Amino acid sequence: MTRAPDRPDRLVFIGAGNMAEALVGGILAAGLRRPADIAVADVAADRLRHFRDTFGVEALDDNSRAAKGAGIVVMSVKPQVFALAAGQVRDSVPPDALVVSIAAGVTTARIEALFRPGAAVVRVMPNMPALVGRGAAALCLGRSANEADAEAAGALFRAVGVVVRVGERLMDAVTALSGSGPAYVFFLAEAMIRAGTDMGMDPEIARQLAAATVEGAGRMMAATNLPPSELRRRVTSKGGTTAAALQVMEQERLDSLVIEAMRAACARAGELSN
Ligand SMILES: NC(=O)c1ccc[n+]([C@@H]2O[C@H](COP(=O)([O-])OP(=O)(O)OC[C@H]3O[C@@H](n4cnc5c(N)ncnc54)[C@H](OP(=O)(O)O)[C@@H]3O)[C@@H](O)[C@H]2O)c1
Repeated sequence: MTRAPDRPDRLVFIGAGNMAEALVGGILAAGLRRPADIAVADVAADRLRHFRDTFGVEALDDNSRAAKGAGIVVMSVKPQVFALAAGQVRDSVPPDALVVSIAAGVTTARIEALFRPGAAVVRVMPNMPALVGRGAAALCLGRSANEADAEAAGALFRAVGVVVRVGERLMDAVTALSGSGPAYVFFLAEAMIRAGTDMGMDPEIARQLAAATVEGAGRMMAATNLPPSELRRRVTSKGGTTAAALQVMEQERLDSLVIEAMRAACARAGELSN
């Protein structure tokens, strides 16, 4: 394996929003860093106070100062302000530091152009369940990043879920699958709750049952490693209730609809990147 430069432990988040909070919480809980090794920077004073109070990390209103001495800088601002924030830290990020970006749609080429020539860049697409330690993240490497950089970035995101590696050309597809995916599942859950309520259930009971069902099904997929088609077969007895429901879904081509929806998400991700 390629050796990483001997980087300092200092881990800096530019943008102290929801995703940075999930990561800092997960990284501290996993013991990957001590609070003294982490700094966050943000324009919002209440976010800085929140990070100081909750995690005991350094919290600064000055991006450039925060990035000084960093081993890894995680760019966790919204894509619209990415270039501005990158410009503010560019000259204070140490030359050997790893730049990790979670900004949706911002390509490694664009990130490289905004940082010093030769900067090691890893781009990551995380998703919202990282907020509860159950995220799914895909990462890809910029031109100057190596295997050790991938491992260093991957370790941070493994603290809040599953991490896979893809080529950058697949990042829009990742966005369509796991990035936007939680919303598809929520949409299905909404319909299940509405149907349960229509059948006379208390809405809160229907919500609890739907949440536990989605979580349980996801855990079974992860734990058994079986294809979902096989798991589906195992809960579908011939002529039974599940078969009656699936027959309607198949007739109405729910699968084709999901595929079409994901193609739209992937195309939109591509448009936003350009
Ligand atoms: N949340 C998700 O599920 C998710 C999933 C995949 C990827 N991402 C990516 O993750 C990144 C962060 O998302 P998020 O949900 O954590 O966003 P967020 O909660 O809005 O966090 C971004 C933070 O950055 C602050 N900020 C704005 N301009 C800044 C600047 N120049 N310097 C420093 N901080 C600045 C914002 O303050 P103000 O609010 O005051 O502007 C906000 O506190 C985004 O690029 C997004 O595309 C998020």
